[in-house]
Amino acid sequence: MTDPSLIPPEPPGQEPSLTPPEPPGQVLAFDDVLLEFSGVTALNGVSFTVDAGELFAIIGPNGAGKTSVFNVLSGVYRPQRGSVRFGDQNLLGLRPHAIARLGIARTFQNIELFSNLTVLDNLMLGRHHHHPYGVLAAFGWLGKARRNELANRRAVEEIVDFLELAQWRRMPVGLLPYGVQKRVELGRALASEPKLLLLDEPVAGMNLEETEDMARFILDIRDELGLPMVMVEHDMGLVMDLADRIMVVDFGRPIRTGKPQEVATDPDVVRAYLGEEHRIVERA
Ligand SMILES: Nc1ncnc2c1ncn2[C@@H]1O[C@H](COP(=O)(O)OP(=O)(O)O)[C@@H](O)[C@H]1O
Ligand SMILES: [Mg+2]
Repeated sequence: MTDPSLIPPEPPGQEPSLTPPEPPGQVLAFDDVLLEFSGVTALNGVSFTVDAGELFAIIGPNGAGKTSVFNVLSGVYRPQRGSVRFGDQNLLGLRPHAIARLGIARTFQNIELFSNLTVLDNLMLGRHHHHPYGVLAAFGWLGKARRNELANRRAVEEIVDFLELAQWRRMPVGLLPYGVQKRVELGRALASEPKLLLLDEPVAGMNLEETEDMARFILDIRDELGLPMVMVEHDMGLVMDLADRIMVVDFGRPIRTGKPQEVATDPDVVRAYLGEEHRIVERA
């Protein structure tokens, strides 16, 4: 893990940007990104945009580069080429916490929660940057901090209702069924009141019922909260049902971007997915 692209660079200076402002309605522009690790090209000329309120999906076989897109977006990796803009903000060079503070929240392919803490406490942690009086709030005597704490608790309870987590709210997350834990992780991301949500394989490992529940919550987030989302998946079926637009990637390259029907009938896409089956057969 000594690759230089893993080390977040210093934040850029305040020099004015020469890039023209985004067209109205566009929240994210990922443009011609190249990301290489020693010997491995994870992303090669990947470009896409996400519009306000849009559910944009990225699909592709394992190793195609999907998670790498998120790691570039959230400032974990720095690409060798390309640009990433969130509204009128250039994200390249920003550290992960700065990007989170701009309003980009993510869930992870493997759940990253505090398993000993309750659902409520995990959701409260999602609001940590809504604690402007962080240290003082711990003493509980400062009026403003106390009001802030109450506001955070109310916000968390709204998320508990929205994601139907009430029955588990005081239970340690580690004791909950897998599908519920994934929902708590989604809740923690929502708790930060993001402007863009990144979901990395939100139904991976779920049974059918859990998958249907998660699909319903993802649609509710788009339709009721109007939150734009980028969702990474390798399951074509789910993405076809949910997404407004889909980008298919394979070996770090975008194969096709379009509406679900356009993508599903594209011969290159079909070939990439047949290719995956062949790879699975070879491994078996
Ligand atoms: N930190 C890293 N170091 C070296 N190679 C990496 C690293 N992260 C990802 N890769 C490689 O980049 C490619 C894309 O990985 P990833 O984005 O995780 O794929 P996906 O999420 O589509 O399964 C893979 O070949 C993977 O091994
Ligand atoms: Mg992945």
